[in-house]
Amino acid sequence: MNQGTASQTNVMGRRRFLARMWAGGLALIAAAGAWTTWDLLKPKAISGFGGLVRTVKPDMVPANGVLPVPAARGYLVDVEGEVLALSEKCTHLGCRVPYCESSGRFECPCHGSVFNRAGDLLSGPSPRGLDRYPTEVGDDGLLYIDTGETIEGPPPGTETIDEPAKGPPCAAEGH
Ligand code: FES
Repeated sequence: MNQGTASQTNVMGRRRFLARMWAGGLALIAAAGAWTTWDLLKPKAISGFGGLVRTVKPDMVPANGVLPVPAARGYLVDVEGEVLALSEKCTHLGCRVPYCESSGRFECPCHGSVFNRAGDLLSGPSPRGLDRYPTEVGDDGLLYIDTGETIEGPPPGTETIDEPAKGPPCAAEGH
């Protein structure tokens, strides 16, 4: 093989190598694009607490009422037609805050913080109202609570609703 032929072979080899590199790169880009598209279009993953929690149709939340959602460790509340998802975790030291049917308020059994139905802090040592979760209505018409993301509860003094207590507090009744 003379020098001219060897150099021609080298050039051809380099071209083939570069062509393969291009093809490989394009294939990688196509795969990444396909993955991203699938990621955007795939059905929502229902993962329980810490992720998306599937609940009910928004109109199944009782008007001006409270629906416990144990899987989300929280509640769905209807506040004048708007559905809010509240965390059941007290913003003081993290106790579970039950809803008291007789007073129509959330009453923390640990140190006595009281929250109205919208989760606003009414009294007690908590630094703010009950935290909230984002919600969205899925293609199936059901309401999904995103428990992977917490929205800080409203600061003291917030009055999302102005509802007087319906009746006696549960704490006073020893519930
Ligand atoms: S944990 Fe609820 S008031 Fe302290």
